[in-house]
Amino acid sequence: MRFGVVVCLLAVILPLGLVCESLAVEKVAGQPDMDHLWGARVVKLRAEDAKRGQLFDQGNYAMFIHWGLYSQLGNKVDGETYYGIGEWIMNQRMAGIPIAEYKKLANNFNPVDFDARAIAKLARDAGMKYIVITAKHHDGFAMYESQACDFNIVDATPWGKDPMKDLAAACREQGLGFGFYYSHNQDWTFPGGGGGPQVDASGKPATFDDYFEKKCLPQVREITTQYGPIEIVWFDTPGKMPKHYVEKLVEVVHKNQPGALVSGRAGHELGDYQTLGDMEVPIVNVDGLWESVDTTNDSWAYAWYDENWKSPKQILERLVACVARGGTYMLNIGPRGDGSVSARCATALRHAGDWIARYPQVIYDVQGSPWKHSMPWGDVTQKDNVLFLTVFEWPASGELYLPNIEQDVREARLLLGSDSTELLCQRRGKHVVVQVPAKAPESLVSVIKLTFSEKPTVDPVLTLDPEAMTELAVEFADVNGVKKSEKRWMEKFGEWKRIVHGHEFGADADLSWEVDVLVPGEYQVSLNYAGEGRLVWHVGIDGGESIQNQQDSSHNYQTFPIGWLNFPKNGRYRVSVQCLEGDVGKASLHAILFDAVR
Ligand code: GLC
Repeated sequence: MRFGVVVCLLAVILPLGLVCESLAVEKVAGQPDMDHLWGARVVKLRAEDAKRGQLFDQGNYAMFIHWGLYSQLGNKVDGETYYGIGEWIMNQRMAGIPIAEYKKLANNFNPVDFDARAIAKLARDAGMKYIVITAKHHDGFAMYESQACDFNIVDATPWGKDPMKDLAAACREQGLGFGFYYSHNQDWTFPGGGGGPQVDASGKPATFDDYFEKKCLPQVREITTQYGPIEIVWFDTPGKMPKHYVEKLVEVVHKNQPGALVSGRAGHELGDYQTLGDMEVPIVNVDGLWESVDTTNDSWAYAWYDENWKSPKQILERLVACVARGGTYMLNIGPRGDGSVSARCATALRHAGDWIARYPQVIYDVQGSPWKHSMPWGDVTQKDNVLFLTVFEWPASGELYLPNIEQDVREARLLLGSDSTELLCQRRGKHVVVQVPAKAPESLVSVIKLTFSEKPTVDPVLTLDPEAMTELAVEFADVNGVKKSEKRWMEKFGEWKRIVHGHEFGADADLSWEVDVLVPGEYQVSLNYAGEGRLVWHVGIDGGESIQNQQDSSHNYQTFPIGWLNFPKNGRYRVSVQCLEGDVGKASLHAILFDAVR
């Protein structure tokens, strides 16, 4: 695995009292330097006017659509398949299609199966509250009728229709918000555009200003005046675009669309909220207005080979995780060149949507978990003095632990769609135990509603669950001589992964976690790490037992068993990890895992 990284400065006060001033990350040659594309990751404050972001802030779930000329290639060019994000197929990092050849694709673009109403209905059935679709991507092709540039779906294709008119209308019919993705910096086919030709058709040098004045600004005016009310204008990859250009675009959006938000990738921190990195679902609560953008498989645009769909349960796990961290989840579909949508993708979205329709109160207009991280058994969303426990791993013992919560539960109910049954709760010291039936009522995710007399207050310290496997990520660890950094890499081109890892384990250096053990006893300890060759790991309990073992390693992050550790009584412990022998310089620890021995 080669690791590409993004330099980012996180001034985030982690919920466990850890202040993580900066997660500087190393850059590795050979990987595209994406920080200039996505911009620095800064926690934005809430949009000044909450009304402006209401659908975003309360809807919490949206459909992203990547659809363009590239969709008709589906990542296959002259019989060769290029693996990675399909909307980059023209780029040198993928097929490297010359501009003139790429433009000819428009001659055959005839999406006769595009059905705006069906797509809006799918978003509605999926439980999504608005749609953001590519008006113009990095390739420069406008998927709407543009007077500013004739390289667009009406003027340049045999189909000759404007799908955005129909989709905007269909969204309004379905009561959904509508917004546009617009690549404002990169334009690979227009003279002067970012990554585009540096001369015009007559061979005269073209500047970014030429592109901005002749195409970018007029098109942003078009998409913010010709399609009715807009929820979001989703600018992307600002790169090194000078600030005054971004300011002008933001001004145009806010003037023409007072109800619209500008995405966190506008550049120069001029967006109205924060957009995280591609395909990133955070594991610590993020303050302010923010979104995760993810895709139903591994590519934003359609790729013929990509059948790696997220299941309904995986969709719900990632949606709930985003909402429970306090954010919005925008999940992408990539229609084919003919405009049709994969039946597998649509089915998974609808099944997840059926669950949301049974439990809308868990997803919409709620706040993040007071623990500010997930639980081993699932996650928590909150509405005032009510907690919604979304249980993915149902406790066979019939006891679900709610750790370190000050208030007693006034009422506990197991939700069964609109019905519910009462549950008993028992306080055990600092924790509350919810008595649940042996069998989970829902096949995907079961929901327990806890009502308190006041807004519950908790201690967010991590806990070892006595039943569900507990993963303590390095993101929560304290460091002593070990480096802790954010790391991003691409599986296939453009398919981004992100973790925080511990590395450079010097002598006597360790990572450690403060953790509450709810039930004493033996726990199987494993480590999730990447590295080279055999490594010797040491895991110890401060003032208690320690174990040491040698395991092999892999260039992929893999979980290796280290051995059993005994926690003699319930209570608070500090567990530390050291890497003692082997190619320690290449050891990269992602998490420590605990599984109660039953
Ligand atoms: C990245 C990609 C772009 C994609 C976007 C989706 O910026 O460059 O192709 O549209 O992520 O978030």
